[in-house]
Amino acid sequence: MDAPLRQLVTAVGGYDLCTSEFVRVTRQISPEKVFHRFGPELKNGSKTPSGTPFRIQLLGSDPDYMAKNAQTAVRLGSPSVDLNFGCPAKTVNASRGGSVLLDEPELIHQITRAVRDALPQDIPVTVKMRLGYKDPSVCIDNALAFQDAGASELVVHARTKTDGYKPPAHWHYLREIREALDIPVVANGEVWSREDWLRCYESSGCDQVMVGRGAVARPDLARQLSEPDFEPWHWHHFVQSLQDYWRILSDLYAAEQCSDHYRVIRVKQWLNQSRRGFEEAPGLFESIKRIHRAEDMADALSRIS
Ligand SMILES: Cc1cc2nc3c(=O)[nH]c(=O)nc-3n(C[C@H](O)[C@H](O)[C@H](O)COP(=O)(O)O)c2cc1C
Repeated sequence: MDAPLRQLVTAVGGYDLCTSEFVRVTRQISPEKVFHRFGPELKNGSKTPSGTPFRIQLLGSDPDYMAKNAQTAVRLGSPSVDLNFGCPAKTVNASRGGSVLLDEPELIHQITRAVRDALPQDIPVTVKMRLGYKDPSVCIDNALAFQDAGASELVVHARTKTDGYKPPAHWHYLREIREALDIPVVANGEVWSREDWLRCYESSGCDQVMVGRGAVARPDLARQLSEPDFEPWHWHHFVQSLQDYWRILSDLYAAEQCSDHYRVIRVKQWLNQSRRGFEEAPGLFESIKRIHRAEDMADALSRIS
């Protein structure tokens, strides 16, 4: 989820916190403009325009450079730093980043410790992990390694890297992790509705949840989860949101912060990613997927009823 979508979704409400896409750390300190590209919120007190707190996430395997980049993120205003040990992407794993490190408990301990030691004590260091690379039974040892290295919260995507995104998510492992740890464990994976969340809670015992694809597909998801009486959105609410998203992107274009091409592509991508949230989404996607010019997209979006 990029900044324009975070702006939209957090304005709908229900979120306590949101995290950047991962900033890839190699053997250099990324320039400030990279952090600002991943997190324009840093220039707004590390909050989205509607006031939801935001933090930077880093992904990498070099403890020293992870620490130095974490210092930059904090200097630029990130109130905490999240470390990604969950990414399954081949290119990322091939260069020793993301979930592949879950087979190297000593290294993940070193990375987390280096980042923890490099930051002021009042800045939390948090971790996002999968259950393991292939074998989920490493989850407790890894979770303990993160805690021992000073992580103050752990978000667990309840699948291994080999599981990819294939349902189901194995929430029951989260209960074991939670019971082994003293720090808060946040559940993640396959929560698309309030019903999913109640099942996840029952299985994991975690009282906090992080949502990924569900947040993209249903802008009202966090409100469904946090407000028992909330009436889930109908299609016309989503259409309104799509038009709002177009306006957010068009403002960025007017401020020369994105290209014409980008705003057209992003609005199509988002609609495509909303298939699971609204049964009307695929039909609308079919009708706009061949539009290339911004004027035509603006026109098409304004005509949806
Ligand atoms: C296209 C895509 C990009 C993602 N990028 C990130 C990322 O940058 N950082 C991260 O922690 N998780 C990332 N994730 C994983 C999600 O945060 C989440 O852990 C995963 O999708 C499972 O949760 P869900 O079932 O709620 O989607 C990404 C997932 C997808 C599908």
